[in-house]
Amino acid sequence: MSASAPANITRVCPTENIYLPRVAVLDRVLTEIPEVKTFYWRFENPVEQKAFKRFRPGQFAQVSLFGVGEFPTSLPASPTEDEVFFTVRQVGSCTSALHRLKPGDRFGVRGPYGNGFPMEEYYGKNLVFVAGGIGLIPLRSCIVYALQHRKKYGRIQIFHGSKTPRELMYLPNLREWEATDGVECYLTVDRPEGNWKGNVGVVGSLFTKPGVQVPVSDTVAFVCGPPVMFRYVIRDLLAMGMREQDIVSTLERYMKCGVGKCGHCCIGVAYVCVDGPVFTYEQIKALGEDI
Ligand SMILES: Cc1cc2nc3c(=O)[nH]c(=O)nc-3n(C[C@H](O)[C@H](O)[C@H](O)COP(=O)(O)OP(=O)(O)OC[C@H]3O[C@@H](n4cnc5c(N)ncnc54)[C@H](O)[C@@H]3O)c2cc1C
Ligand code: FES
Repeated sequence: MSASAPANITRVCPTENIYLPRVAVLDRVLTEIPEVKTFYWRFENPVEQKAFKRFRPGQFAQVSLFGVGEFPTSLPASPTEDEVFFTVRQVGSCTSALHRLKPGDRFGVRGPYGNGFPMEEYYGKNLVFVAGGIGLIPLRSCIVYALQHRKKYGRIQIFHGSKTPRELMYLPNLREWEATDGVECYLTVDRPEGNWKGNVGVVGSLFTKPGVQVPVSDTVAFVCGPPVMFRYVIRDLLAMGMREQDIVSTLERYMKCGVGKCGHCCIGVAYVCVDGPVFTYEQIKALGEDI
């Protein structure tokens, strides 16, 4: 096994039975935004489906495309939802092979892996979700989980920004979430198109809009998105008084094994696949990743 976990990080060690890829069948495909599709699937063996669905928001799986390769992807469904699915941007050989699959086609899945977000530790706190572009994929699971345990959390705010209105992720979900009592949802785009009447600007520009009041005490901020967005949002949140240990994110690193064996995902002394991918900003800085 890999070296021991850094002192301030609790490592989640996968058990033997999740090392094996299992055969999954594609049920249906939904186009989310250009180049990004959601793949609804199930394991061939229903017993494996039941075991897999014990995953935590923020964990990930390794997907095998037979004859092509394997890649890590988040689990955007909440474990409390009926279906499991991946939402994947087509960027290279494996993700293109997944995008070519048709309902009924088979592929491999192993996992769930990684630590995930400790949603129970956040009971009683306000939750602020800040997502740039496809950064909403790993946060979707936490948002759905929080809404399904609504009474256990304080205020819930969702801030989401994309380049254009066509690239806003999970738009039907966003509309549903913003209609939920006690949930505030704020959207922005870099470039307005069509009949867009909403905010124009980077996602952090929403924090200071009239009527928006971001809570900073007893609050956890989930931040996911491209590095440049991450850097500016962190700066804004810290300036508003948030503590580094109350800001959480997921780190994307090249992965091979996903189970702490190969060292491909190492940052300093941490293995992103088993010590992460969820880290607090305080931990990210301690690992020398002050992006
Ligand atoms: C924990 C985790 C969760 C992820 N969740 C999702 C998700 O939910 N949806 C999604 O679309 N993608 C997700 N990714 C990214 C996804 O794993 C990569 O896009 C995928 O591995 C690309 O494989 P490929 O064979 O298609 O591309 P390749 O042919 O391997 O590469 C194509 C291009 O993408 C770049 N690239 C590949 N992998 C990465 C990476 N990990 N980080 C940065 N650049 C990379 C390469 O440098 C190259 O430019 C996640 C990654 C990690 C580590
Ligand atoms: S140690 Fe192999 S991917 Fe993390």
